[in-house]
Amino acid sequence: MEDLSRRRVLRVGAGASAALLAAPTFGWTAARAGAAPGDGPRIDAKHTWDDEPDELIADIYSSGQVTKVNNAMRKWQKNGQGLSKEIPADLRTFIEKARELPDWADAGKLDDAVRFNQKRGTYLGALYGFASGMMSAVIPHEAMVVYYSRGGAQLKDRIAKTAKLGYDIGSLNAYQDGGEMAVTCVKTRLIHSAVRHLLPQQHKWSSRMPYQEKPITQADQMVTWHSLPTTVMRMLRRWQVPVDARESEGFLHSWQVAGHMLGIRDGLIPATWKDAEDQSKVALDPILKGTPEGRKLAHMLLQLGFNLDLSILSPGVLGALTRFMLGDRIATELRIPREPVWDPLLAASWGPFVLVREGLLDVGMPKEVYWTFDEMLRQFVLLYISELRMPINIELPYTNNPE
Ligand code: HEM
Repeated sequence: MEDLSRRRVLRVGAGASAALLAAPTFGWTAARAGAAPGDGPRIDAKHTWDDEPDELIADIYSSGQVTKVNNAMRKWQKNGQGLSKEIPADLRTFIEKARELPDWADAGKLDDAVRFNQKRGTYLGALYGFASGMMSAVIPHEAMVVYYSRGGAQLKDRIAKTAKLGYDIGSLNAYQDGGEMAVTCVKTRLIHSAVRHLLPQQHKWSSRMPYQEKPITQADQMVTWHSLPTTVMRMLRRWQVPVDARESEGFLHSWQVAGHMLGIRDGLIPATWKDAEDQSKVALDPILKGTPEGRKLAHMLLQLGFNLDLSILSPGVLGALTRFMLGDRIATELRIPREPVWDPLLAASWGPFVLVREGLLDVGMPKEVYWTFDEMLRQFVLLYISELRMPINIELPYTNNPE
């Protein structure tokens, strides 16, 4: 197995049709007024952003207060902590409201989510970090926005910040006063507003996305949402990992609350896993596509383990995992070469590995293969823990990607 860690590096290619980046065709609307996931007024989600923080953040940029706000916001780390008086009053008022849990948040379900995260944490490292991470490279709008914003130039830093969200949502007191998930969500919401302010000034983004006046629409947010919990749950189901029904509901709920706190309208957030599946079939699956920008991001992601000297997570193995998780078409569009050992190994042995690991099967798995897969999951966890060791501050960017 040693040799498997020295696979070749993915080469990045160029050239994808702009036509393929056309806006996804789906109707995110909800007819009922109310207050719960799936309930809300009708909106045109492809032309709706997040007006209140967008205006506040635009003012921060035009009045030259970005450093002042970043310094003041850095002190806010725990959900229940008071806000610094140095944060401008109108922004403070907004944050006070935005950090409140929605009325429909259910503490019991959030507890069930914690149990899910504790039991399934080992898979979640690989799934959030890699399946969802790689998927973001083939969601054309997201790839384009990430690539041309600051994050495209500092992908490692961005991954650390995204890992923080995955960590915070799974922690014991995620949404309680001592937790950090409300802080992470609200800060992320403000960063998205900052990106909406800065990115239209990036000429390459504007020429690649002429049909979007501003990035990160409500529809885009929901597509990305599906690349996270919906994709995680799909993979666990596909791998036949047993998931307790209440924990599965709890996991969905923790992401419904996250969606709300990230500024997604309640009416767009799926009320059930069935809704999530139905939305994904229309809004996520058909739009996944390799683009020049996405290929560059994917290439950077394949180098992740390499930079940290994690022996199993070589670019070749990560490439094979991409093919295994996201399928041949996506792997081919990302120009990921076939991997002669790992492609067939994953296809034939991952299913039995999970069953053995879950105690559902106790025969037919060579020890070396079991150990290698288990070590791979462990290294994903290590990778994300190592990203989380540094203090991570989600802060307003000063620039776009200078490219
Ligand atoms: C920033 C999560 C939707 C593009 C962030 C950050 C997090 C995050 C945690 C902070 C990390 C950082 O500052 O780099 C999420 C979640 C989403 C979502 C959970 C949906 C549920 C989207 C969408 C787009 C997007 C739809 C683009 C179409 C960006 C960009 C940044 C960012 C460009 C700033 C990166 C930088 O330049 O530093 N997001 N995001 N996000 N997000 Fe999102």
